[in-house]
Amino acid sequence: MNDSRKKIVAGNWKMNLSLQEAQSLTAELLGMIQDEKNNDSHVYLFPPFVYINNIYRQIQNSTINVGAQNCADQISGAYTGETSVTMLNSVGASAVLIGHSERRTYYHESNQSCANKINLALQQGIIPFYCIGETLNERNSNQQFNIIEKQLMEGIFHLGAEEFSKCVIAYEPVWAIGTGLTASPDQAQEMHAFIRKLITEKYDATTANNCSILYGGSCNDQNAKELFSLPDVDGGLIGGASLKSRSFMNIIKAFQ
Ligand code: PGA
Repeated sequence: MNDSRKKIVAGNWKMNLSLQEAQSLTAELLGMIQDEKNNDSHVYLFPPFVYINNIYRQIQNSTINVGAQNCADQISGAYTGETSVTMLNSVGASAVLIGHSERRTYYHESNQSCANKINLALQQGIIPFYCIGETLNERNSNQQFNIIEKQLMEGIFHLGAEEFSKCVIAYEPVWAIGTGLTASPDQAQEMHAFIRKLITEKYDATTANNCSILYGGSCNDQNAKELFSLPDVDGGLIGGASLKSRSFMNIIKAFQ
């Protein structure tokens, strides 16, 4: 963590919770966050599409932000079942996850379609959280750095520095997501520093230094403090541990 960068804790609820459960979780978080006077971390909730506007109404006058877990790679038209960035904007989403590994694995999303989505999100003033990460096979065959570089080159490095600086990067090793296997502090720091080096080479040191790079993959209230204290880790994208208010709040507090 570096004080010049935004500290971010984001909860990715995935395809979990009923509307009532989602609203109770949000209400509990709002209460807990109001009691935390000294916390300057930026909190984002990523509920399923259908709850975004309900959650937006709840968090509207608070410091919490709401975003979507995905968006269409087209602006409008005959794309049955898709949700565009303009729709997301109209229901209150201020951020969107792009390229989550579950989207890449189960729905065959490519770096190129992520690049389209990032462009569309930026046109709507929505913050893209671009998710990247290697699989276990890729790490075991020492391909992790090539994979991350390719995901950055093809998915986001087409942007100019000004547009890039509006984005957040989330490094999520696929083998750590939902498995209970967290990257070790050394593995996380090594990859975050590598990502920052690539951003420096592509843009410049200031752009790299200002970019928030989140860690995701079995991050919880037991390991968040150690991960967030690493020099190049600026917060977390949290799945399972974001579904309970107490554990998510403890992760938010791990910055202090
Ligand atoms: P996890 O998920 O915290 O449950 O591992 C993280 C994510 O997929 O964003």
